[in-house]
Amino acid sequence: MTRLNITVNGRAHDLDVDESRTLAAFLRYDLGLTGTKIGCEEAECGICTVLVDGVPVDSCIYPVLKAQGRSVTTIEGLAHGQGGGDSDRSDGLHPLQRQFIRHGAVQCGFCTPGLIMNSAALLDRCPDPSEDDIRAALKDTFCRCTGYTSVIEAIRSAALEKQGKAPLPVKDPDVDEPMHVISRSVPPQEVREKVTGQAKYTDDYAFPGMLYARTLRSPYPHARIVRIDTETANALPGVRAVLTHMDVPGENRHGLVYRDWPVLCDSVVRYVGDAVAILAADTEDIAAQALGLIEVEYEPLPVVADPKYAHSPDAPVLHPDHPTGNLLKHIKVRHGDIERGFAEADVIIEREYRTPTTEHAFLEPECSIGVPKGFEGHDKLTVYVGSQIPYQDRDQIAKAMGLQDEQVRVIGALIGGGFGGKEDIAGQIHVAMLATVTGRPVKMLYSRQESLVFHPKRHATIIRIKTGAKRDGRLTAVQAELYGDGGAYASLSDKVMTRATTHATGPYDVPNAKIDCFAMYTNNTPSGAFRGFGVTQSAFAVEQNMDLLAEALGMDPLDLRRLNAQKVGVTTATGQLLRESVGLLETIDKVRADMIAHHADHGAEPDGFRWAWRDEQARKAYAWGVACAYKNTGLGGGAPDKSAADVEAYEDGTVEVRTAAADMGQGIAHVVAQCTAEELRLPYERVRVLLCDTDLTPNGGPTTASRQTFVSGNAARLAASALREALSHSAAEMLDVPPQQIRFEEGLLRYNGHSVTLGDVVKWMKSKGLSPRTHHEYMAPQTQPLGTGGDMHVAFSYATQAALVEVDLDTGAVHVHKVISATDIGRAINPLMLQGQIEGGIVMALGNCLTESFILEEGVPWSRLLSRYKMPGIKHAPEIISHLVEHRASEGPYGAKGVGEIPSINTSPAICNAIEKAVGVRIYALPV
Ligand code: FES
Repeated sequence: MTRLNITVNGRAHDLDVDESRTLAAFLRYDLGLTGTKIGCEEAECGICTVLVDGVPVDSCIYPVLKAQGRSVTTIEGLAHGQGGGDSDRSDGLHPLQRQFIRHGAVQCGFCTPGLIMNSAALLDRCPDPSEDDIRAALKDTFCRCTGYTSVIEAIRSAALEKQGKAPLPVKDPDVDEPMHVISRSVPPQEVREKVTGQAKYTDDYAFPGMLYARTLRSPYPHARIVRIDTETANALPGVRAVLTHMDVPGENRHGLVYRDWPVLCDSVVRYVGDAVAILAADTEDIAAQALGLIEVEYEPLPVVADPKYAHSPDAPVLHPDHPTGNLLKHIKVRHGDIERGFAEADVIIEREYRTPTTEHAFLEPECSIGVPKGFEGHDKLTVYVGSQIPYQDRDQIAKAMGLQDEQVRVIGALIGGGFGGKEDIAGQIHVAMLATVTGRPVKMLYSRQESLVFHPKRHATIIRIKTGAKRDGRLTAVQAELYGDGGAYASLSDKVMTRATTHATGPYDVPNAKIDCFAMYTNNTPSGAFRGFGVTQSAFAVEQNMDLLAEALGMDPLDLRRLNAQKVGVTTATGQLLRESVGLLETIDKVRADMIAHHADHGAEPDGFRWAWRDEQARKAYAWGVACAYKNTGLGGGAPDKSAADVEAYEDGTVEVRTAAADMGQGIAHVVAQCTAEELRLPYERVRVLLCDTDLTPNGGPTTASRQTFVSGNAARLAASALREALSHSAAEMLDVPPQQIRFEEGLLRYNGHSVTLGDVVKWMKSKGLSPRTHHEYMAPQTQPLGTGGDMHVAFSYATQAALVEVDLDTGAVHVHKVISATDIGRAINPLMLQGQIEGGIVMALGNCLTESFILEEGVPWSRLLSRYKMPGIKHAPEIISHLVEHRASEGPYGAKGVGEIPSINTSPAICNAIEKAVGVRIYALPV
């Protein structure tokens, strides 16, 4: 230990510290300043940035002793006026914090402290930064949610505010018929906590006597376990438990669809990262040391690294219990007469495309804390975790622990991004086991490197697709064969690859289709849910074949899409008649109009639109590429799709809405608050939200399939509507008038010049023994399984995107300058936050298209560091013009349908189509 003198946020500290401590660990764990987040410990993501004597540093690798005698400012200090803070307003916020909220630049919020601290340093040295200055200053600080557009606007506004000037106006997307709170850009829930460092994610919780856990993982993609010896590790002082498969008290399997994933491997490991043993110790250092003392003897087995090989008779069978061997599922779509369809075609395009495994790279690594029954007010085994599916976590924990569901409680912490990657079990069962055995709270926080190796990814696919059309451009047939690499365990492969298959005709009227998909087990990292849920992969193939077809027919690519676009009255390839809410044509028209306007703005004649052009002197080629997409809302396929919500009014005139619907930054918390405020005509600020506590909040189902706005929005809306009914009756009795004549206005219940407050009605109800609380379980309309020809889904969202791309003619470097997007989302519940979803989805997809690939060689991951996984940063973010199109879905809340996934679906093919137009090179395999 060494004595450290340091000033943090204006307060002097003089204390002993461990020489190996980093500044981030010192701030978080020694001083309890958890506003500073750790994303990678590689100085790669930048979200741990703090200021040391005013200079931004990556605190995750900065030795704390290097800060000896210096002054450190963290996000908490910025909020209180340190570090150049101008928290002179009554809200006590620094202009950056205020403007990040105002411009909607905060989603999950995990990166926000880093972005703001870097920006604070920028504004101190450059009070009036240009956009280029901002991009340069923040080039090493990642945000995986926002797409950066709103971040740049927020920083520019903060600079203006600091100079005493008016900040930039906030984007105000055009929406139809704003209501009381619906279709208004209210700030998301807990946003103040997120910009001030007060927001609590799982690793920000600590309990007295808490132990630290680690997992021993397989170094082999496929091997037999010959022997596990934990004796030496167990004997190390400070180690409290070392557990293997023999210690799993219940079923040693978990899984969301198929229960095929061992809690701890017994006889075989099936991928690099499979869990073999877990342990808990007094400190992280002891836990790390003990991990190295567990001895495991493996006998390597042949590796299945390719889904096509997995399907061959020569491949070893990875799950002998699975009835169809390595074939997890064969998924089929049959529609019309495929032979006749191709016989009628004048042009046929057939190509093969490949997409790689990709990584979510949410900025918050997985963390779980288990607290045993009886510990400090915990009356049952409790797990704290940022999960996308709290109730299914509870079910899986209970089964593995040999308990009933009701004997386990899952409490959701804030989630620092998920994008589908926090649906599967991570450390939840392991901490439950360790907490139970040790009788103490146990935290298991994955390092970034462990997170990369462990969690399910987006499926790599091989897609052969054949598209036929008549001379006039009308599609006659689509035939496709897809291989999806499901990896070692099923996870959600069945569902993801089903979506890839059912969407493989694109958002078009295709009279004849035959699609076969083979979801395969391999020894690669498991694949699971990832924004777009399989449709990102099939759209990459579908939309490039559409451009090839347009070229062969000599047609404009948008005209071809317009001619074949789904509209009301069309039947999809799975047999679903589209009866309403099909806004694809409008999205195409809006994008086309903007592309033309772009050229007019740049000096072209009114008819001067060009798809491609060159600047030979600069050695650059430019082109537009377009692509369309559609994506289902909700689980569909016959799965019961429901969500429940409670709404309760209080004597202080506030209301709380409760549902276990996970908010990973996409904003379901503000959606349910807006629905509740709308029904009760309350100011939005008077509605609180409690999410994801299996003892306190009813089941909202998984945050997946772009479903939460639709199902949980409806659950909150209908529970609030029932509460309004109950309040009306009570107010009517109080005022002695008919209940139907009571009007709700801003927290008052009125009748003809008389009024009572909401709080007074609640008091009155309680005095009469009436409950000011309602519950509603919303069940989405029944859907039908694939193959039955009925309605597979409750609604579809539609989108068109155009990408303006520059290609360097000498180096091949691709730069995306601009993306124009139009998205039919039914109803924009919160236009500003919805724009943020679209911008973030586009930039995430831009990375998937151009640079991202989780590389595996014979089942062994090469992409084990964040620095080896190339995500787009702020300097890559294009200008994004985004239009909201609102074709109401009658069953959606106020007409809304899903938006979370669709922006990520058509960006890649739009960019690839642009590259082809610019330089004549067709991209058949991602990343570019
Ligand atoms: Fe930036 Fe989520 S808001 S990573």
